[in-house]
Amino acid sequence: MSAHVEPPQRSFASDNAAGAHPAVLDAVVAANEGHALAYGSDPWTAGVANAFSAMFDADVTTLLTFSGTGANVLALGAALGRGEAVVCTRWSHITADETGAPERVLGTKLIELPSIDGKITVDALASLDHLRGVQHHAQPGVLSLTQVTELGTVYTPDEIADLVEAAHSRGMRVHLDGARLANAAAALGGVDALRAMTVGAGVDVVTFGGTKNGGLGAEAVIILDPALAGAAPYLRKQFNQLASKMRFISAQFLALLKDDLWLELATRSNRMASRLYEATSDIPGVTHEGPPEANSLFPVLPAEAIEPLREWCFFWPWDLERNQVRWMTAWDTTEDDVNRFAAGVAATVGD
Ligand SMILES: Cc1ncc(COP(=O)(O)O)c(C=O)c1O
Repeated sequence: MSAHVEPPQRSFASDNAAGAHPAVLDAVVAANEGHALAYGSDPWTAGVANAFSAMFDADVTTLLTFSGTGANVLALGAALGRGEAVVCTRWSHITADETGAPERVLGTKLIELPSIDGKITVDALASLDHLRGVQHHAQPGVLSLTQVTELGTVYTPDEIADLVEAAHSRGMRVHLDGARLANAAAALGGVDALRAMTVGAGVDVVTFGGTKNGGLGAEAVIILDPALAGAAPYLRKQFNQLASKMRFISAQFLALLKDDLWLELATRSNRMASRLYEATSDIPGVTHEGPPEANSLFPVLPAEAIEPLREWCFFWPWDLERNQVRWMTAWDTTEDDVNRFAAGVAATVGD
């Protein structure tokens, strides 16, 4: 690494590496006044339920949780029937990065389908049809999609609608892991896109990530199909996701949803990823698969540059057999961070 290049103030490790937005922290401090009833019987939580119904333009049921893994397990638990399996890709966070939580907590099987750029296809779903009605096979019951996908791609609302139709026609429900749903909405044009890819597409249950989007620990399960809402509050408690002082999670979401701050922050994060792509795509030795669709890039670098660069400014390796790494932006990434990082990449790769 050329010693003279100053590293950026913020890393390109993850949107989880960023702190919380000041408006979120202010909202938590403001919610710290006096007493409020516990377990969600407070005005902040009532306000969040209304705010999410307005945002999705539907009468949704909102259940707040501590973590994204907990939100996914709760959402899947609400959607699964007995003897049923969850269908996902091998990249899906629920199968690759949740330590087997859905299997352990729900006692379900996860069936991994092949995908293209992290996206499931209708044909792949149809390839499971031979399992149906055979007592030796867990029955595909819930299709789980991730939006933004784990490979940084974004399903269009039409792609989701087609998958939902294929799933529903097979008697399945559809779960959308929306840890980065804000980034997907920003990429696709905002609130209308959010509605189109969820309610409009016929998805049954969505998780909406607040933590990666400027929260300090706030996730939401949004149940769109009222038939799935009945048992969900009990499941949340059983799955250790019921906060007693829920007002502090709710206050975070109220801050993020107010004046569409969530969208502004996700838009900024996506824009910085595009900027990083532009700033590095002409550097000889850096190979991008294409421009980012949301807030992550998966470039291939010269093998010998990876470790010096990671020591200088942290990011995660992705597929080291291919010398591929992941660069991810966050709500607080600045142009200066991008410029400095690109300068460091140019200096290291060019060494
Ligand atoms: C696609 C996806 N889903 C869910 C999560 C939620 O994870 P956590 O339990 O760490 O909040 C993450 C976090 O990285 C994620 O990337």
